[in-house]
Amino acid sequence: MRVHVADHPLITHKLTVLRDRETPSPVFRSLVEELMTLLAYEGTRGVRVTEVEIETPVAVTTGVRIAEPKPLIVPILRAGLGMLEGMVKLLPSAEVGFLGMARDEETLQPTTYAERLPDDLSNRQCFVLDPMLATGGSLIAAIDFLLARGATDVTAICILAAPEGLKAVEEALRGREVTVVLGAVDERLNEHGFIVPGLGDAGDRLYGTV
Ligand code: PRP
Repeated sequence: MRVHVADHPLITHKLTVLRDRETPSPVFRSLVEELMTLLAYEGTRGVRVTEVEIETPVAVTTGVRIAEPKPLIVPILRAGLGMLEGMVKLLPSAEVGFLGMARDEETLQPTTYAERLPDDLSNRQCFVLDPMLATGGSLIAAIDFLLARGATDVTAICILAAPEGLKAVEEALRGREVTVVLGAVDERLNEHGFIVPGLGDAGDRLYGTV
């Protein structure tokens, strides 16, 4: 498993506004999408391509196109949905599947309440989107699910991670074909399983329930 923390002043700037409790929901939604697009640049570095020959107005040349089978983008509901548009802008030919997961507020264990994915993911490259990697439970469950269906490699793109959760993901997925791309790694998890300093509950802030 590989971890890549994007280091770019534009990402840090947008992340700072995202963290601010005064940032209203519509601005928060736009920022999540913009951050996703910036992180997608790193996250898609390993996207599979095939060589093609084309004709420019001047000459014949070779280039590349996104390979078949198409990559699969999997936003984890709810909060991952806020990242979807930012990702499909860069990978418009990808297929989109959905996983609905929620953490129990007491035990912090994730449960899967919705799944709409192709049955067979053999030979598919998957991109999992979830803004928050807190204990890591949701991401481990989501990636395990995709690998069990036959996905060849999985890239998870998260805006924020807690070091404890990142360590748990690394331990659970050691030796697997998995890459985690992050906007930042914060200080720690608090006793309620929230990332500190973090940005609060991404799902609530995206969809206006606070
Ligand atoms: C949040 C977040 C992740 C998960 C991270 O979702 O979006 O999916 O928690 O926590 P973990 O790393 O400890 O598993 P939540 O369960 O609050 O659901 P929501 O997206 O519907 O708000």
